[in-house]
Amino acid sequence: MAETVPYVPGLAGVPAAHSSVCFIDGEAGRLQYRGYPVEILAARCSYEEVAHLLVFGELPNEPQLASFKAELASERRLKFRIIDMLKLFPESGHPMDALSATIAAMGMFYPGDHIHDADYMRLSAVRLIAKLPTIVAGFHRIRRGDDPIAPRADLGHSANFLYMLHGKEPELLVANALDKMLVLHAEHSMAPSTFCARVAGSTFADPFAVVSTAVTALSGPLHGGANEAVLRMLRSIPATQPSAIREWAEDRLERREKISGFGHREYKCKDPRATLEQGLIDELHERFGRSSTYDTAVELEVQMRELVGSRGLFPNVDYYSGIVYDILGLPTDLFTPMYAVARVAGWLAHLFEQIEHNRMFRPSQVWVGEIDRPFVARADRR
Ligand code: COA
Repeated sequence: MAETVPYVPGLAGVPAAHSSVCFIDGEAGRLQYRGYPVEILAARCSYEEVAHLLVFGELPNEPQLASFKAELASERRLKFRIIDMLKLFPESGHPMDALSATIAAMGMFYPGDHIHDADYMRLSAVRLIAKLPTIVAGFHRIRRGDDPIAPRADLGHSANFLYMLHGKEPELLVANALDKMLVLHAEHSMAPSTFCARVAGSTFADPFAVVSTAVTALSGPLHGGANEAVLRMLRSIPATQPSAIREWAEDRLERREKISGFGHREYKCKDPRATLEQGLIDELHERFGRSSTYDTAVELEVQMRELVGSRGLFPNVDYYSGIVYDILGLPTDLFTPMYAVARVAGWLAHLFEQIEHNRMFRPSQVWVGEIDRPFVARADRR
């Protein structure tokens, strides 16, 4: 059969949609959500504002923001049967698996004629953004043997999450730092999880199924799961001297093992989010003291720049994010769920965009198997 379109492994560089959600210039290290540089959004906007921008296309004015925040706050609670479900999961299970299973199950509680009902779609988006943090905090408490803590409507998105996790109101610096992390992770164009969301959305699957699909794709160590892997890797580096760190990196590269937190399909320079995370780490160090893991990370970045910078391998968003979450006191296996808590806004923005101009995703393939094989009866097979 004649091949009309060349096969591109991993669809690298192949456009999968016309989109106005997220702009990336991977040569210059520029990232914008709906035309606003991420640096400005991270410095000036709350996560709720950015979620509104992504999902509805515009930054909210004061009354719009107040009403969006009130809507989110009113949808934070989980149905008691969802909480019962969280109690049935094994304590040793990964929170990402608990999250994707719970979101999929939640869809059964909120059925609707979604594609034809703009109100249902809007409410589902609000429910998903509002409830993901409650699921993550609830599962974490339940697996430790504690009761889940009901959300508080008087706290912002990030402060409420930390309250539900720890049972006390976080200090402002900590809540703001987490909020900034959510802004930095809220959207990133056609990442694997977003592509999965668009593929599922293109079949008109319901929004809960779409987000559950995206969470599953996010969990892998080549995507969101890298933030956990980075912290484990940094802690496993046996020495702190530059020469020893270089030796460690050289050894790993020689064995053709990937170094977590480096490289990106889109960026051929340092990910701008990694730089912003370093600014956040500096602020947090003033309050919580310096983390030795951070010193190792900075030195490894220096060594990697010399070793593989010419190949376009630089820190990505996951390189420093685990260090921020660690300073904020989050357990390592909640790092990737935090990514999902943030990215749900981006997934929903893409879902809305996809169904507005939908054509179902159904790519072709390059056949490499045999055809017309002679059938052998079961008794005669070797
Ligand atoms: N460490 C060492 N080498 C790396 C590397 C890393 N982190 N990332 C890519 N490379 C090398 C590959 O080994 C490959 O080398 P080769 O051409 O000699 O075979 C080359 O760079 C291209 O890698 P590839 O995996 O095909 O690039 P990609 O564009 O498909 O990959 C990632 C992008 C993110 C999957 C990849 O950089 C990676 O696995 N990084 C580590 C995981 C990570 O941090 N993920 C989070 C992304 S936000």
